[in-house]
Amino acid sequence: MINQLEKFKEYLRVKEEIDGFSFNSEVKKNFMSLVDGDKLKILEIGFGLGSMIKRCIKWGFSSEIEYWGIDKNGELIEPAKKNLVDFLTNYGLNYYINGDRIKVDDNVKVDVRFYQSELMDFRRNNYFNLLLANSFFDLVDIDKSIKKILSLSEKNAIFYFTINYDGITRFLPYVDIKLDNKIEKIYNGSMNDLNCRYDQSRSGSYLVDSLKKHKCEIKNLGPSDWVINPSFGENEKYFLLYILNLIQETVRSQDSFDERTEKWFSKRRQQIKKEELFFRACNLDMVGYLK
Ligand SMILES: C[S@@+](CC[C@H](N)C(=O)[O-])C[C@H]1O[C@@H](n2cnc3c(N)ncnc32)[C@H](O)[C@@H]1O
Repeated sequence: MINQLEKFKEYLRVKEEIDGFSFNSEVKKNFMSLVDGDKLKILEIGFGLGSMIKRCIKWGFSSEIEYWGIDKNGELIEPAKKNLVDFLTNYGLNYYINGDRIKVDDNVKVDVRFYQSELMDFRRNNYFNLLLANSFFDLVDIDKSIKKILSLSEKNAIFYFTINYDGITRFLPYVDIKLDNKIEKIYNGSMNDLNCRYDQSRSGSYLVDSLKKHKCEIKNLGPSDWVINPSFGENEKYFLLYILNLIQETVRSQDSFDERTEKWFSKRRQQIKKEELFFRACNLDMVGYLK
């Protein structure tokens, strides 16, 4: 039996590729143009398997990076380190491991540390000049998190917040419109587990609102939807099944368990198996300055 952590790691592994196709290209271009060659002191919140530090190195926008990744799940530290080491090896960059840190000493200098920490408990005030978070804000109280992020950042630090879920999860073709909508509503509703000011299932839109409220400057924003068309590959199949299982567990735990709903899930599974399903989830990317 594969345990939950292994399934989550595999989900993050395939998500890395799907996110890569989904990032908004204008927002990304804008982000790259804002980074001005100074030494970057990056904080990534919720690093998962460390996909963003790999992207920072691949995208090559800075020759000197001090990277701090925090994630509340300490079990992800070793897998993230391994993931980065495999990437650096394949990429042919010189690196060495110094205790908990991974240092790249090549045409690019990078100093990486992954920490277990809940965002609210992390202390390094007014330090960072680039803040990253990918698929993160639907999991937290957006307003409180922005306030905390501001306290960790230098004035005018850049933020690049990506794949912020924004309330729409669609499976097509329609099986039963009323049931499709009901299931989506239960799934979205389950994300509001913190009873906070903003609806977490619309983290993309509400992040915009919260950033503006805190006088931050949004330079660019745009959609970064996950769109999976029929005739997909094995990675997409895994990704879709993972999300479908998550939704099914949510519906089972929140709603009465009925045969019609169970059939809906079986039908969707068949569509995934036959590569007939069309899937879309709406996300937003944004870039700008924190004040
Ligand atoms: C959906 S995953 C995304 C991981 C990674 N950014 C990616 O896109 O592959 C969200 C991550 O945020 C972490 N996380 C959730 N709430 C957190 C919090 N309050 N403080 C720190 N990390 C948190 C989770 O443990 C998880 O690894």
